[in-house]
Amino acid sequence: MDIISFINYKGGVGKTTVTANVAAELAYRGYKVLVVDLDPQANLTFSFINIDEWRDLDRESRTIKHWYDEFLNDNRDVSLNNLIISPDKINNHLNAMDSVGRLDLISSHLELINLDLELATQYGGNSQRTIRSSFLRLFTRLKRGLEGIKEKYDLVLIDCPPNFNIVTQNAIIASNLFIVPAKADFLSTLGIDQLVRHIDGLTTRYNNYVNDGPGEWKEINPRLSGVIFTMINIYNGSPIQTQAGYISQVKRAGYPVFDSYIRNNSTLFAHSPEDGVPVVLDTEVSGLYLDIRGEIEELVNEFILSTGVTL
Ligand SMILES: Nc1ncnc2c1ncn2[C@@H]1O[C@H](COP(=O)(O)OP(=O)(O)OP(=O)(O)O)[C@@H](O)[C@H]1O
Ligand SMILES: [Mg+2]
Repeated sequence: MDIISFINYKGGVGKTTVTANVAAELAYRGYKVLVVDLDPQANLTFSFINIDEWRDLDRESRTIKHWYDEFLNDNRDVSLNNLIISPDKINNHLNAMDSVGRLDLISSHLELINLDLELATQYGGNSQRTIRSSFLRLFTRLKRGLEGIKEKYDLVLIDCPPNFNIVTQNAIIASNLFIVPAKADFLSTLGIDQLVRHIDGLTTRYNNYVNDGPGEWKEINPRLSGVIFTMINIYNGSPIQTQAGYISQVKRAGYPVFDSYIRNNSTLFAHSPEDGVPVVLDTEVSGLYLDIRGEIEELVNEFILSTGVTL
């Protein structure tokens, strides 16, 4: 089972939109996909379920926040199975399209925002040994949880919040691959360097702890599968010149970049989330829908090649 984080420190660059569309297209192609929403804004969650469905999950303590709470407050190792739901709209849609794939969801919670402070209080100790063991306990939390459900899915896609707090670091440590959705502008391209450096730093720190004593954990090596450019403005069939310049700059810096991108279209992308079915699986047949769906399909072809995920 491949675990792939969609991550960028910058907010509003299209992480959630890319995650939802890639997940839906992969499910359509027959993959069993689990999406995990780690962002307190819960945008991915509300791309697939409505507020009433979410309230039921909240009441039943079936969000990622509750799962971390049980671990922090009562040291309980609840299975992630208890949180997983199969959202009706998208799965009915997949059935109607005769797909054998599935898209399941682990939901987020608006109060996940407070979790990081609580996690941080549990990290530390008086000796190297206790610091090491508290680090490994906290930072492998999601990795351990996902290992418990690995038989059920071909791949897990994690939508990360726009930061690098402990929950985000949990996602990176659990992942064998990561994807960086980005806008083709100055700040976004600057941010990629910093993000990759931080992920390298976290990997080194984690591996040092792993190698520094006995235990069940092995070294990790999360690989950047590629940068996916989003909100691209097209002129004469190609990205406009300024955006093309930033895309080239990222390639020259040596980062893998997807040839496919997602174009800018606020009307189409803005209304889609509330529908419960991402744009890529929309049945509308007008020209623009076809163009955008074609782009996302190409992007998923590249995603499969670059990640090596197999059915
Ligand atoms: N290709 C696109 N064209 C136009 N608008 C888009 C596109 N992709 C996403 N959007 C819109 O831009 C906003 C931000 O997108 P999205 O939520 O996917 O970004 P994000 O990186 O996940 O943001 P955050 O950091 O807040 O989690 C949303 O309103 C979304 O509908
Ligand atoms: Mg988001």
